Amino acid sequence: MKHLIMISLLATVVVGKSPRLKFVVHEPSRFHFTKPENYLSMYHQEGSDMLYVGGQAMIYVLTFTDRGVHDLQIPAASDQTAIDTCKAKAAPLELECDNFITVIQKVNNTFIVCGTNAGSPRCWMLVNDTMLTDVQGAGHIGSASEISPPYPSQKSISVPADGSLYSAMSSVGGHAGSIRRTFGAQKLLKTENVWLLNPQFAGAAIIPSSQKFKEEIYFFFSEFNKTARVDEEPFRARIGRICTVDEGGIPNLLADSWTTFMKARIMCGAGNTQQQYNNLKQAVVLTAQDRRAGVMYGLFSNAWGKTVICAYSIEDIDQAFSTSKLKGYSNPFIGSRPGMCSVSQNNMKNLGVIRYHPEIEDVIRPVGVAPLDLPSDDQITHTVADIVLAVNDEHYSVLYLGTEQGKVLKVLHTSEEVFIVSQYSLFHNEGPVLNMAIDSQKGHLYVGTAMEIQRLPLADCGRYGDTCRECILSRDPYCGWDKARRRCIAIPPGYNVTTGTLIQNLDHSNSTVCGEAAALKQRKTSPKEVLVPFNTSIFLPCPVRSFHATYRWEKDNCIMNYPCLFSGDFCVLGPVVDTPLKEGVFRCMATEDGFKVEVISFRLKNDGRLLVASVASMLGLSLLLAVTTLWLH
Ligand SMILES: *[C@@H]1O[C@H](CO)[C@@H](O)[C@H](O)[C@H]1NC(C)=O
Ligand SMILES: *[C@@H]1O[C@H](CO)[C@@H](O)[C@H](O)[C@H]1NC(C)=O
Ligand SMILES: *[C@@H]1O[C@H](CO)[C@@H](O)[C@H](O)[C@H]1NC(C)=O
Ligand SMILES: *[C@@H]1O[C@H](CO)[C@@H](O)[C@H](O)[C@H]1NC(C)=O
Ligand SMILES: *[C@@H]1O[C@H](CO)[C@@H](O)[C@H](O)[C@H]1NC(C)=O
Ligand SMILES: *[C@@H]1O[C@H](CO)[C@@H](O)[C@H](O)[C@H]1NC(C)=O
Repeated sequence: MKHLIMISLLATVVVGKSPRLKFVVHEPSRFHFTKPENYLSMYHQEGSDMLYVGGQAMIYVLTFTDRGVHDLQIPAASDQTAIDTCKAKAAPLELECDNFITVIQKVNNTFIVCGTNAGSPRCWMLVNDTMLTDVQGAGHIGSASEISPPYPSQKSISVPADGSLYSAMSSVGGHAGSIRRTFGAQKLLKTENVWLLNPQFAGAAIIPSSQKFKEEIYFFFSEFNKTARVDEEPFRARIGRICTVDEGGIPNLLADSWTTFMKARIMCGAGNTQQQYNNLKQAVVLTAQDRRAGVMYGLFSNAWGKTVICAYSIEDIDQAFSTSKLKGYSNPFIGSRPGMCSVSQNNMKNLGVIRYHPEIEDVIRPVGVAPLDLPSDDQITHTVADIVLAVNDEHYSVLYLGTEQGKVLKVLHTSEEVFIVSQYSLFHNEGPVLNMAIDSQKGHLYVGTAMEIQRLPLADCGRYGDTCRECILSRDPYCGWDKARRRCIAIPPGYNVTTGTLIQNLDHSNSTVCGEAAALKQRKTSPKEVLVPFNTSIFLPCPVRSFHATYRWEKDNCIMNYPCLFSGDFCVLGPVVDTPLKEGVFRCMATEDGFKVEVISFRLKNDGRLLVASVASMLGLSLLLAVTTLWLH
């Protein structure tokens, strides 16, 4: 008995951090792999309906429509000799002796595809979406082993910018790890080995600038100190940056290396406490067009595998790289500051400074000095983000977090807080989300697990219900209430914020804009009649829609007031000691945003014999059983 009450108390305590709504989606826009794909690379061009997925010895070209998914499969096997050699070498894992496609990227109009090729990486060009051919033509290309790792468990990152491809390779075994320009018309460059300490790459992003020569690429990674003592944290999260104009140094100084490489330490944890998350797993950047303003979201884990998200201001990072002291260098700079983006070559003195002191002293700290306040029981495996122009002419960040259980959380990040709009359960098999791609232009999210690829609309406004209050309380920046049509609709493209009339309220859960307060107080449901057989216990179910509302039962217009005996997808009222579930009208009330709304009501009547068939069928036999089982404990 006692622990039942504990459960319902707990449920109310964590409510603020939980998703407000939970959706189960089983719609046809999905693709099933015929065999599990445990490593997924993805390429998606904004505005298209196509998704390129790289798997084991296979490229899947998927075309999504509202009716389903059309797929074209392009085999990309490695040659048998490579597989034999790989297996003979007793590779770290024999299962990795195949051609795992790790890179699919478009550089100018060339589709570059690279794979592990059973330990000896290879690259191809994808022609006409159907054929793999050898890479030829314009520009330089580095060795395939600088673009794709030899085994899929070694993480690599590739990002195209201005007709060049930039690749970062994580360190593994004897390989130092590197950041390189690997393809394109510009000079191929690399990092010096001493600049990176066993890096494990987590992401990369182009930081645009209105002045083209100031364009930068940020690389996100963790460094691992192999000689750290047992009581020391071996990981350090880092941002490394290079300028896209970089053409290398002079013949005897940084000839084939970056002259603009700098790195900084980034922290994720509460203030200066010991509770730091140092292992950066993945990172995404949102920038407003050609402005430095923007935000970077990093997915971090600690030694126990707990995951958190920290947000950083791009302005702060930019400021640190352009003003901080360099570690181990205290002399004044001669002329321009070393490592800055510039078309003219840096002077020799500056090259020397960068060669030996690429690390800045300033440490990058998250906005709000702590990780985002997200549910702690969800292990996050992948994240993407979007920036949305709301009807108040402000931009809002939305994060999509894929979890270990194959769910996706949609999170609104305002300047003050995070609000978990909803949780989607998308898959038949609950495997972890391995990869995601977002298309802000067309409004789609692609989510991949080892078994399936699914597509979701970003503006999923139809799910929020058909009242203004439900639409506003969703706090979904993609959706607004259309007063004239009385519907919750997606903000149309090209919506004019000065003349438009859609209603939204994103900063707080507050639906007073709807002006429905009076109507809500009046609203009553018509009670469903239930005949209670003599001498039996019955349970009344109330469907939970918003997990941010508090649900309670009231008897005979509030003479008595009862908590849920059991909550989850239903707030269940059952026979507790002082709850005589015999006769009367029982109403389930949900309170959210200061308003109490009646959800459902029952009129119980004493009967002599019958079992409550109506209630049993509504509740579903399994839930009834579950409740009864709990009750009997
Ligand atoms: C690609 O398609 C074009 C036009 O259909 C055709 O001319 C060309 O030969 C194709 N290329 C290859 C390599 O098949
Ligand atoms: C990409 O296109 C630009 C201009 O369109 C050109 O200058 C450059 O050489 C191209 N790069 C490659 C690798 O083809
Ligand atoms: C790694 O840790 C050891 C032990 O604390 C320390 O002496 C060494 O300087 C560290 N290496 C780097 C590159 O920070
Ligand atoms: C919005 O409408 C106003 C008034 O019609 C007009 O002056 C303004 O240019 C429009 N804004 C945009 C972005 O179209
Ligand atoms: C909701 O907003 C209205 C008007 O902006 C304000 O008067 C009211 O206090 C707010 N309610 C809550 C619960 O914050
Ligand atoms: C039903 O009533 C009888 C007699 O009053 C009692 O012995 C029995 O325990 C009751 N059963 C239940 C399930 O309450």
